[in-house]
Amino acid sequence: MIPAEERLIVALDAPSLEVAEKWLSELKGVVHFYKIGLELFTAHSWKAVNLVKNYGGSVFLDLKLHDIPNTVGRTLKAVCEHGVDIVNIHTLGGFEMMKMARQAVAEYSGGRKQPKLIGVTVLTSHSQETLSKELCIKKKVKDEVLHLAGMAKRAGLDGVVCSPQETAWVRKKCGKDFLIVTPGVRPAGSALGDQKRVETPESAVKAGADHIVIGRPITQASNPREAAVRITQAIAAF
Ligand code: C5P
Repeated sequence: MIPAEERLIVALDAPSLEVAEKWLSELKGVVHFYKIGLELFTAHSWKAVNLVKNYGGSVFLDLKLHDIPNTVGRTLKAVCEHGVDIVNIHTLGGFEMMKMARQAVAEYSGGRKQPKLIGVTVLTSHSQETLSKELCIKKKVKDEVLHLAGMAKRAGLDGVVCSPQETAWVRKKCGKDFLIVTPGVRPAGSALGDQKRVETPESAVKAGADHIVIGRPITQASNPREAAVRITQAIAAF
């Protein structure tokens, strides 16, 4: 059972290291897990990762890798050499890519702790309409997520990223040891931003999420620390 304070992952979607550090110091002692995404990593790479580590935090490196199997494998080699707690790839990169990614993480972690390797299913900013009309995927969102999660499991991934709305189904299909990380989480009353398939933190955890990823409702709050405390308390009951 994951303690409530480790379930919450704050998305450190900051424009600079200074802003990231400001959030880290405001959230110190309340939040332990941080997600470094493309914005901060592209600008500051391992400095951003080390900043979180210096604050004693765990790191989910949200690279969402989607490329040919060899390139993804070689990239994960570099990730393993630096060491993070969770790293992800896109399941839409296909079965061979996922298998190569799994192999690379196992091979290149050496004596170090292996990062958990998880696969993004369908982005939480995508609706049924995006899927059918833009991407020409005929399946219902839920069925597409379940299909991709099943493929990720067969390829040996540790888990997936999906919306809280599909979490219970993925949990049922992939079992209790499969890691489920859900963004698209919004405390009641907060702005959706570009997120479409959303639920509250409580319902995400109740549905079976191991970790919930929350960015703007915490980082853009007038008091980020209070916002994080409220969320941690709300999910502690489950
Ligand atoms: O600010 P917000 O709470 O919407 O942040 C959610 C974070 O989770 C963003 O960094 C976004 O890139 C990420 N994410 C997502 N949907 C996915 C995978 C990751 O929103 N399927």
